[in-house]
Amino acid sequence: MGKQIVVTRSVPESALDMLRKVGAVHVCPQDRPLTVPELHEAVRGAHGVVTMLHDRIDADLITAAGPQLQVVANVAVGYDNIDVPAVTERGVTVTNTPGVLVDATADLALGLLLMVTRRLGEGERLLRARQSWTFHLGFMLGTGLQGKTLGIVGLGAIGQAVARRARAFGMDIVYTGRGRAPAEVEAELEARFLPQHELLRTADVVSLHCPLTEQTRHLIDESALAAMKSTAVLVNTSRGPVVDEQALAKALREGQIGAAALDVFEREPEVEPALLELDNVVVAPHLGSATTETRTAMAELAARNVVAVLTGNEPVTPVRP
Ligand code: GLV
Ligand code: GLV
Repeated sequence: MGKQIVVTRSVPESALDMLRKVGAVHVCPQDRPLTVPELHEAVRGAHGVVTMLHDRIDADLITAAGPQLQVVANVAVGYDNIDVPAVTERGVTVTNTPGVLVDATADLALGLLLMVTRRLGEGERLLRARQSWTFHLGFMLGTGLQGKTLGIVGLGAIGQAVARRARAFGMDIVYTGRGRAPAEVEAELEARFLPQHELLRTADVVSLHCPLTEQTRHLIDESALAAMKSTAVLVNTSRGPVVDEQALAKALREGQIGAAALDVFEREPEVEPALLELDNVVVAPHLGSATTETRTAMAELAARNVVAVLTGNEPVTPVRP
């Protein structure tokens, strides 16, 4: 006992109940991301910190917290907000929430893909604007998915879940990434590995499922967009900075690619205004894991990680440098 646990933004009550069994829990009351000074002030004296993907966790934060800090549990699978080498070097365990958000994120990627290829956002806007319309054979035509090729960038757990769903829609799967997926994964999905430039050149849909790293920042830039089919659809449910948003807006405006469906943005919560002008773009406010079930599971997994470390046990889902 005597442990202090800081939660930077509200989480489901079931996770707080788990944390309260091992320490005194403080949930930051602001209904917005903390500024860096607020965050540093909030974590002072903490033994465990539960963080959100907008919290910057680096050496300065560890110093601000103090030497008693043992664990930072990010309530996200992505941890590009954390300087993992700097934090772990100071003896602090970092954890994330893999696995529990795979299905929710894959569902959303397919939802966005259907939304953009069947022009559902445009249709909604038309009706809500009380515009007149009648059924006719050429009205608001989209494109089908059957027989099209889905190019997955990053065939990890989420990429595989997207591929599985896409196959049920009759799509063929190609993928690229740092290396080949296990043979049984390739066999199950009948997925073919392609070098990135080949995938961009041949895929009808390019869906991003890689983490944000220095290698993947602006992976989809002007030249990548130029390589894609003029009818290609880009889906991004990974991290905004994987795509150069200004280059994307230009490519969409000039018909270099067909459409884009975006759940994440380069300067969240800002959205590149040029994108919002375009009808061949659908946007969502980072909702990949946003189901009650998934968010509860994420928060509880983060809590289990904090409890494990503060009681001297191995973390459940550690992030290693
Ligand atoms: C959400 O974007 C996550 O990384 O969990
Ligand atoms: C998500 O990508 C996971 O690895 O579970």
